[in-house]
Amino acid sequence: MDEPDAMGSGRAYAPLSHIPAHVAIIMDGNGRWAQARGLNRAAGHRAGTENLRRVLPAVVEFGIPILTIYAFSTENWGRPQAEVRLLLGLIERMLDSETQELHRNGVQIRHIGRTSGLPPRIVAKIHEAEELTRHNERLILNVAFNYGGRAEIVDAVRAIVAEGIPPEEIDEKTIGAHLTTGGLPDPDLIIRTGGDQRLSNFLIWQAAYSEFYVTPTYWPDFDRDELYKALLAYAGRERRFGRLKPARK
Ligand code: IPE
Ligand code: IPE
Ligand code: MG
Repeated sequence: MDEPDAMGSGRAYAPLSHIPAHVAIIMDGNGRWAQARGLNRAAGHRAGTENLRRVLPAVVEFGIPILTIYAFSTENWGRPQAEVRLLLGLIERMLDSETQELHRNGVQIRHIGRTSGLPPRIVAKIHEAEELTRHNERLILNVAFNYGGRAEIVDAVRAIVAEGIPPEEIDEKTIGAHLTTGGLPDPDLIIRTGGDQRLSNFLIWQAAYSEFYVTPTYWPDFDRDELYKALLAYAGRERRFGRLKPARK
């Protein structure tokens, strides 16, 4: 990860009145990005991975403390085997090549999603990266890989039952604490690239009051300027949480 001012255009932006504490990104559109260039889908996924390395310094630069990225859903197993294998290979390569650099830049890496079903070699690398970076505080980076919101809720319910928590003691906090994002604030802003207006099973519990921002830009083209635009839109949103007056946390 480059230092913030070494990346992108280096252009200065007008200050933002509110910076979200937690931004989540549905990194969609790799395949269409490739198709539009006459390339295969694999090239799109490689460009998407490359783009993540460019966007992370901008996230730090804008002062966002928590970022969650949707990299592979529980439904993505339904894609052709070759594509699934490629995506698994890309996450493994990211772990190999980026963990040290992220660590040096104060990034705390966390995996959210199921580890069951993932190759043990990748699970071991995820655990290594989590262990190495667990005390870092500049940015918490949640990587949603083999993640599905419904699977996450199922796992939370199983854990609650297994702990023998009496039904009358179960409330929204209990469930939130048993999700893989337990202990973190809900996302304030969810960005989806690629233009589709849906959650695709991403953070379905945590998104209850998130602001949603969709851009038609495909993920490999989503850069520092695009992130600023999303943050600017967020700063202009009025969050009411069901009340009449706007509330700002
Ligand atoms: C997002 O890009 C990456 C993953 C879902 C793993 P897609 O592969 O979904 O790209 P499109 O939506 O087909 O363009
Ligand atoms: C969502 O994108 C999952 C990720 C970005 C990892 P998809 O491309 O899988 O979503 P759908 O199938 O269009 O809803
Ligand atoms: Mg897609």
